[in-house]
Amino acid sequence: MQPDLTERILQYLNEHERVDTLDLVPVFNVDHQKIIGALKSIQASGELVKAEQTSRKTLELTEEGKEVSKHGSHEAIVYYFIPLQGIPQTELMKSSPNAKVGFSKAMSQGWILVDKSTNPPLIKRKVDKIDDTVKLHLENLSKGEPIPDKLINDYKKRKLVQEIVTKSFILTKGPEFALVLTKLETDLTVDMLASGLWKNLKFKAYNFDSLGVPPERGHLHPLLKVRTEFRQIFLEMGFSEMPTNNYIESSFWNFDALFQPQQHPARDAHDTFFISHPSKSFKFPHEYLERVKHVHSKGAYGSQGYGYDWKIEEAQKNLLRTHTTAVSARMLYKLANQPDGFKPVKYFSIDKVFRNETLDATHLAEFHQVEGVIADVGLTLGDLIGTLYEFFRKLGITQLEFKPAYNPYTEPSMEIFCYHPGLQKWIEVGNSGVFRPEMLLPMGLPSNVNVIAWGLSLERPTMIKYGINNIRDLIGPKVDLKMVEEGPICRLEK
Ligand code: PHE
Repeated sequence: MQPDLTERILQYLNEHERVDTLDLVPVFNVDHQKIIGALKSIQASGELVKAEQTSRKTLELTEEGKEVSKHGSHEAIVYYFIPLQGIPQTELMKSSPNAKVGFSKAMSQGWILVDKSTNPPLIKRKVDKIDDTVKLHLENLSKGEPIPDKLINDYKKRKLVQEIVTKSFILTKGPEFALVLTKLETDLTVDMLASGLWKNLKFKAYNFDSLGVPPERGHLHPLLKVRTEFRQIFLEMGFSEMPTNNYIESSFWNFDALFQPQQHPARDAHDTFFISHPSKSFKFPHEYLERVKHVHSKGAYGSQGYGYDWKIEEAQKNLLRTHTTAVSARMLYKLANQPDGFKPVKYFSIDKVFRNETLDATHLAEFHQVEGVIADVGLTLGDLIGTLYEFFRKLGITQLEFKPAYNPYTEPSMEIFCYHPGLQKWIEVGNSGVFRPEMLLPMGLPSNVNVIAWGLSLERPTMIKYGINNIRDLIGPKVDLKMVEEGPICRLEK
């Protein structure tokens, strides 16, 4: 095996004491760059060599110079083109692209003449034989031989040769000169310290210019980043977060408590995922459950109810919660039953819900809801509208429109639309309303307390914010982890 280039350089230096790295190019027949690379490796191992930077000017042929070195100078080509009897100048000029230069050079060399005795005048050879020294010189140069100093400038002007400056190093032996590189230690181990071995070892110097390896770390999914922003907005507005850590809910809290009749289509397996094991819940606040049953089947508090046969079996059915409003219902029930009476509250939640949807580019069977709830004495629809304007203003959305809607648990109910300047259209962003007395009064809330609430999805603003058109690019097995890794943090303009 050939010794390593570093060792060949050291060996050469040992024999020659002093060498210019450029001169090693023909010796080892490798690029100068490779030699410089090997020199860097040598230098990294200690002071084996001294390297002094220098530069050298060298001449090399231009493309035109290479042509001349192969086929002859322009003047020689012109000379040889001229037949014995002569040729009109116009004909001669057509002979080659460089005929004009060749003509004037051949004239000044005294190789050719213009015979004006004929009409048109003829260009004729003046001498029998010429020496194409230009070709010869350039040929020599291409073989690495020098050309006469006095001609260099002339050839440069004719753009046949060019000077290039090459930086190189003059190498001499350094204080730690050796014929082979010692492998430098990169780690100081306990063993080296204990045995004293470290004293005889050479250690690699720290490279403080190295960029370093980015530390491995987790990355937040865009949904989490947007959630953080929503949470911040709620906190700024004085809301506290509801405990939403139960994906499984009973139909009672998900539907019945919200005055959603038991035959409502949303309570169908086509819309809701029901749980098989355990399929039912059994612990409910008994008196409250009785009041819920009553308001559904017979009516109460001035409402005529739905007038159907309310069944506990239906309310017991477990499901994956279809909205976080189930948690809001639990929280409002708790609020109504505190020992020290009613106090106004502002609650929010941001968590996952599940619906048995037909999947498409914008719908999955699970998504996140952002929900806000305010309970206070004498709240009105005006309070809801004002709160929504403030909430969305903090998201950077100032143009809102409201459309009357229907929810079993709110009256009035409003869909929320906002104008999206980027998309240049009105888009639906949420749903809202004032909770019905049929929901609040069975819980035991004072009759002068109103509760306003709204909900929106977390996915929609996230997709808009991150420019994602297909929800499968945001969640699920097709998600590109690079998207998660490289996604910027979210700042909703406030
Ligand atoms: N629960 C509603 C939904 O799932 C959102 C909503 C919350 C509507 C609160 C009104 C009040 O769309």
